[in-house]
Amino acid sequence: VRDNATRIFDKDAGTIEASAYVDPDIYRLELDTIFRRSWLFLAHETQIPNPGDFLATYMGEDPVVVARQKDGEVKAFLNQCRHRGMRLCRSDAGKASNFTCVYHGWVYGLGGELVNVPLEEPAYGTVDRAAWSARPVPRIARYKGLIFGCWDENAPDFVDYLGDAAFYLDILLDRSPAGTEAIGGIHKWVIPCNWKFAAEQFAADSYHALFAHLSAAAVTMPDGSYSADWGGNGFQFTSDRGHGTGFLLDAGRREMLTAFVGPEVARYAMEEGMDSAVERLGVARGQRIHAQHMTIFPNFSFLPSVNTVRVWHPKGPNEIEVWAWSLVDADASDAVKEAYRVGGLRSFSASGIFEQEDGENWVEIQRCLQGPVARDTTFHVGMGLGRSSIDDPDFPGELGWVFSEVAARGFYSQWQRLLTDPDAPLIPSTRREEARHAAE
Ligand code: FES
Repeated sequence: VRDNATRIFDKDAGTIEASAYVDPDIYRLELDTIFRRSWLFLAHETQIPNPGDFLATYMGEDPVVVARQKDGEVKAFLNQCRHRGMRLCRSDAGKASNFTCVYHGWVYGLGGELVNVPLEEPAYGTVDRAAWSARPVPRIARYKGLIFGCWDENAPDFVDYLGDAAFYLDILLDRSPAGTEAIGGIHKWVIPCNWKFAAEQFAADSYHALFAHLSAAAVTMPDGSYSADWGGNGFQFTSDRGHGTGFLLDAGRREMLTAFVGPEVARYAMEEGMDSAVERLGVARGQRIHAQHMTIFPNFSFLPSVNTVRVWHPKGPNEIEVWAWSLVDADASDAVKEAYRVGGLRSFSASGIFEQEDGENWVEIQRCLQGPVARDTTFHVGMGLGRSSIDDPDFPGELGWVFSEVAARGFYSQWQRLLTDPDAPLIPSTRREEARHAAE
């Protein structure tokens, strides 16, 4: 399988084999190498604000519980009883002082520590509590309201893992001194498609918006305001860790905000909320960027202007479960928060007009891939290949034109590197580091 993965993507040629999206062996390897080792999104701080608050979620296909501890810290542990393997917590979210397994009644604390075993003395003598606690997620990172976890104890720090991507992630997280707040519930729905179609599109695909979303944009934009000239001005950023983003600059910002999330949000983003954003992020990020899409590798994605945030939970090679919710500046008015929530529902949610168009494309691709010939086809991921990269003093990192696939190639390069080499560091070593190692 690893040999196959070596051939499946060719960065220099700009090609990827269809089997990447449907082969069960590749999928199994993805769980073992990529999801087992990468930093994965767990929750937003405001989804578990108080001691005892918990959320049950997934890291890849591994179920985990994320819980606020009595001292305010956050811990996460495998949602699996150590007795006979039962799912320990069967609620989606809530408040608890401990977790009792429904099978035989072993009890675990908020951090996953084993605290009680029924009939312990007569049945067992003693049970070593430390040895039989739920398996902890050993690394937890908290970044500007977001909580990430990683199974790899030796993984680099999360901020290092982000690298230059932090600059672009902050456009979502750091517009206000009050930080951000998750609002509404988590919308969860199933799409029968491979997780990479969604993650790659959010990392690297402004291109589809020109076509797939054209009619929806036309009907949601103020009358007659659409201009084909907006599309040319913007960049795509790629990271050697697989993260990617793309965005437009300047013209069309109010019209697109209005189309995606409505006039109230457009007014907030361009008027009352903008001074603070510009003060904290600068003009380029606070005022000029719009229509941004982004993925933090492997499966955490968001749209900073719509403020929809989502995880593409993999459920086999042919299915994902989307978990999506809205994020707002914590000090925005209730009316603005509600406008974001409703605007997000209308555009990007299980019932969202733009979301339907994305889902439809991914589902139909996956259906095609069930045929043996379709599964044995090569796809084109070469847009922008050979064009010189762009330097812009306002935007760090490796850039291409907004209509390129440089970030898709970055995404698949990291995917392939982790897939084919179990010892590959999460952050590729730079040429400078390689030279230093060689000198040593
Ligand atoms: Fe949990 Fe037995 S499986 S107590």
